[in-house]
Amino acid sequence: MRIAVFSDIHSNHRALGACLAHAEEQGIDGAVFLGDYVSDFACPQKTLELLYDFARRHACRFIRGNREEYMTAYRLGEITGWQDGSASGSLLYTYEGLREEDLDWISTLDNYGEEGFPGGPDLAYCHGAPWKTGGTLPEGGPDTQRRLKDIPGALLLCGHTHRMGMYFSGPGPKLVVRAGSVGYPLSTPGFAQMVFLENAEDGAPRWRARYALVPYDVKGAVEEMHACGLMERAPVWAAMCCHALLTGENIAGLLPPYAQALFEKDCGQKVSYAAIPEAYWQKAAAVYRCETHYGP
Ligand SMILES: [Fe+2]
Repeated sequence: MRIAVFSDIHSNHRALGACLAHAEEQGIDGAVFLGDYVSDFACPQKTLELLYDFARRHACRFIRGNREEYMTAYRLGEITGWQDGSASGSLLYTYEGLREEDLDWISTLDNYGEEGFPGGPDLAYCHGAPWKTGGTLPEGGPDTQRRLKDIPGALLLCGHTHRMGMYFSGPGPKLVVRAGSVGYPLSTPGFAQMVFLENAEDGAPRWRARYALVPYDVKGAVEEMHACGLMERAPVWAAMCCHALLTGENIAGLLPPYAQALFEKDCGQKVSYAAIPEAYWQKAAAVYRCETHYGP
């Protein structure tokens, strides 16, 4: 049995298309999708159309990521104030690019699953952590050790970090597999990341995990960011996304706090991301040398 695993697509439909095609070439018995389907890259509905189509042809398990939680919370009015600009323009663009049916589907997704595939070993899956969609499962962390005891089976799939890696956590032991990221991959510029689960070679009822790096049209993904208007609606946020595709570097955790600190120093008070003027995002982008164009 072979199962394909996909996480953190982030609206990068080109990367997703390449990974789905690779999975079908390999031959699969099913697929698990670990959330963060939309946001950050262009034309979010194209990603969902690919997922719906794939699910018509294969046994699929879907859970939600934190980005789907944002979309649902905005729809319900639990989050407000999104507007064009680098703080929230990208999320607003994504929300406006989804149909009611898409938002309905997103709202049905659980944050954790343990429904496996008939005849296959048990598996469990989450986005960040089983107990919190946007949580993490640090290797050796006290929560990881203590709380994984309650998760059935010998394997837990997770995403959210956009990095590949796996480790054993006792007792059990349980194999924790970070699925990396299809559409916003870190450390592998030019290649989408995905995982195959296969039956262990000794015939024992457990999974063996194998990573795959799949080349795709990065140039097209970056060009579409310009063509769709995201570079105007969320200039520095969109630039950070392009930078990640082109370099594999994650500056999204560094640049916004730097822009915030620059502005707080000048205005003499604490501010939220939403209050950072665009000029300060731009100053921070220059410091972090945000790349937004493919090629020289
Ligand atoms: Fe993500």
